[in-house]
Amino acid sequence: MKIAVVGTGYVGLVTGTCFAETGNTVTCIDIDASKVESLSKGKMTIYEPGLDVLFERNRKENRLLFTTNLAEGIKDAEVIFLALPTPPGEDGSADLKYILGVANELGKILDHYAVIIDKSTVPVGTSEKVHAAVAANAKVDFDVVSNPEFLREGVAVDDFMKPDRVVIGTNSERAKVIMEKLYAPLVRQGNPVIFMDERSAEMTKYAANAFLAMKITFMNEIANLCEKAGADVDNVRRGIGTDSRIGKRFLFPGIGYGGSCFPKDVQALGKTATEYGYDFKILKSVMLVNDKQKTKLIPRVKEYFGGELKGKTIALWGLAFKPHTDDIREAPALYNIKALRRAGAKVVVFDPEATANVRKEIGKKVKYAKSPYEAVEGADALMIMTEWPEFRTPDFEKLSAALNNKVIFDGRNLYDLTEMRTLGYDYYSIGRED
Ligand code: UGA
Repeated sequence: MKIAVVGTGYVGLVTGTCFAETGNTVTCIDIDASKVESLSKGKMTIYEPGLDVLFERNRKENRLLFTTNLAEGIKDAEVIFLALPTPPGEDGSADLKYILGVANELGKILDHYAVIIDKSTVPVGTSEKVHAAVAANAKVDFDVVSNPEFLREGVAVDDFMKPDRVVIGTNSERAKVIMEKLYAPLVRQGNPVIFMDERSAEMTKYAANAFLAMKITFMNEIANLCEKAGADVDNVRRGIGTDSRIGKRFLFPGIGYGGSCFPKDVQALGKTATEYGYDFKILKSVMLVNDKQKTKLIPRVKEYFGGELKGKTIALWGLAFKPHTDDIREAPALYNIKALRRAGAKVVVFDPEATANVRKEIGKKVKYAKSPYEAVEGADALMIMTEWPEFRTPDFEKLSAALNNKVIFDGRNLYDLTEMRTLGYDYYSIGRED
């Protein structure tokens, strides 16, 4: 099949590369000429484990092409994916200017039937708006389909190639046949392709992310209560997760969810609810609790140092909003850096992948270490912000030799309480006795 993908950001590049891998010829289109040049030369523009191998293979096979020219990119394409940014506007609603701008252009240049697919996370009703924007100038037949993505950063290739399900919103039989053919190689194990109307597909994406954000937030509240009630959230998590109605995944408490999706999507769904005159109370609580959770450890750090952080050096392990990504959007680490600096502390940070992005954002406000042990050298305390695997089994002897105090504030519950006690650490984590 000949496929066009408009937008070579995270979703676009994963979508394009993975569909090339299943034997299609994919042209990715972006207005950013420097990006297109890098990608054409084989230089990846994002960090995503496993994507580089597929990218290289398909580029060499000439199945993965890049251009800045929309008309050239969509030539003969049976399907055209729109994977464009939908940044939150000032009022929290998703800004559709990029998507509708391209839709408008498409109407003018489309010279054959194509299925235009909304891959970006867009509010309910967007398919209709895209349809109208294309139709304004269209000379040929076309369909607009909603096909939300459920990719997690860090495991996006696996999520794409082995999806739990594929959701497709369309009432067009013609589009349905094409979409079925497109996804057939990815659902051979029998995972469902679920067809529905466009509005339901758009709502499904928001409902999924909001539900997951709520699940995490619920566990964070249980953790907060466990601390007060003398229970251990790790036991509670195992105790409830084995109930198949609840499920084991996404029950890990911590310092809040971050990233480019959950915060934005929860906010946008709240905005949609308001627009339709519905007071979505749970969403409001989720946002409030998560905001507070991010800096939950700061009062404990202050308390440990007798209320005064001036002159103290705090080492931070982890900057990315989660492991296996260099993405720092809405990362809890950034909020903690801000709070620590506001309280007068010096901050030294280490992250295996995200350092360059943090440097771009906050420059010299913190010191950047080249290794986890360099970060703690002479520091007064260690805080853990991201559960990178390399932080899970540190050399505790080396750690205590480097730190001024044997104290760890762990926002991701990496260590065993008994072991930490035996090692003589003051160890503070989330929802467990200290
Ligand atoms: C999320 C969804 O999981 C994807 O299905 C969706 O496609 C994507 O958003 C999107 O809308 O594009 P992602 O933002 O990559 O994916 O990250 P997640 O792995 O879902 O983690 C989100 C946040 O929740 C992270 O900050 C993570 O640390 C936190 N989290 C996750 C917890 O605090 N506890 C958990 O048990 C799980």
